[in-house]
Amino acid sequence: MKTVFVIGSGTMGRGIAQVAAQAKYEVYLSDIQLDIVKRNMDIVEAGLQRQIEKGKITKGEVGDILGRIQMVQNLENLEKADYVIEAVLEDVALKREIFKEADRKAKPEAILASNTTSCSITEIASAVAAPERVIGMHFFNPPVVMQLVELMPGILSSRRTVEKAKEFVVSLGKETVTTKKEGPAGVTSRILAGLLNEAIWVLQEGIASVEAIDRAMVLGCNHKMGPFALIDLIGVDIHFAKTQMLYKKTGDARYRPCYLLEQMMAAGLLGKKSGRGFYDYSKDPVVPTAFFDK
Ligand SMILES: NC(=O)c1ccc[n+]([C@@H]2O[C@H](COP(=O)([O-])OP(=O)(O)OC[C@H]3O[C@@H](n4cnc5c(N)ncnc54)[C@H](O)[C@@H]3O)[C@@H](O)[C@H]2O)c1
Repeated sequence: MKTVFVIGSGTMGRGIAQVAAQAKYEVYLSDIQLDIVKRNMDIVEAGLQRQIEKGKITKGEVGDILGRIQMVQNLENLEKADYVIEAVLEDVALKREIFKEADRKAKPEAILASNTTSCSITEIASAVAAPERVIGMHFFNPPVVMQLVELMPGILSSRRTVEKAKEFVVSLGKETVTTKKEGPAGVTSRILAGLLNEAIWVLQEGIASVEAIDRAMVLGCNHKMGPFALIDLIGVDIHFAKTQMLYKKTGDARYRPCYLLEQMMAAGLLGKKSGRGFYDYSKDPVVPTAFFDK
């Protein structure tokens, strides 16, 4: 039985842990405090409970999945892992610190993957002694539902690491796209960042409301979800960090973050995870946050 160690138990980490446990891996799910992991495991459990109610999974299967996930603090037991997947905040300095420590603890044949959306894998890998085993492994939100995992090698990632990462992702029942060379935010996140940013500019210019823009993109472009519902799901902070990075690295005005995003960050309107973003999730049905209704 192979072992997966997921660092960071938030939106993405808890989903990746569930996907791996469903694929019968032994999983360690870690965070800076055990309480945080517990809170996130409650969310995983509630999601699985809903699947039981819909008749999609049995109680016994859920018990097995949950039984394969162990909650740990920091990097406890990381030396047992074959695959280490980091999913902490989008902060390259933090990621470099974590990779440095993980590289020291992990067994030599383990691969070290980052779920980063926009940090450079080469920059993260340069913090470790064995950069050839580092790779970008970008799951999509929510990991349990989304089929694609984008693999993004850095310039020092070895062919073996890329192949091992591909085999691993396929064993999870997912599909991969592998970038040919490193570019800021890979394929999907870069294209999406431009589109989402344009929606915020259209809103800031007062051209249409949050709801109207979302409806337009769903009905007119056949998108499954409008740009604001999607930013709320991704996290306003994550989108903000991504556009800042893309703007800095490309100098292209299409990624320039709106002032509105800065205001939302300051006000704690981070999207679904904080209860309010472009929409207010405390209301049933969900409505645009009062600020945007003015
Ligand atoms: N949210 C998305 O839609 C999405 C999609 C794809 C990729 N990503 C990427 O995944 C990563 C995580 O994003 P998220 O949305 O899950 O963030 P999140 O804020 O929901 O979770 C981050 C978690 O990391 C934990 N953490 C912080 N410092 C830590 C440390 N030193 N050790 C262990 N845990 C630590 C936090 O306590 C938190 O639980 C980011 O790099 C992001 O860019 C996010």
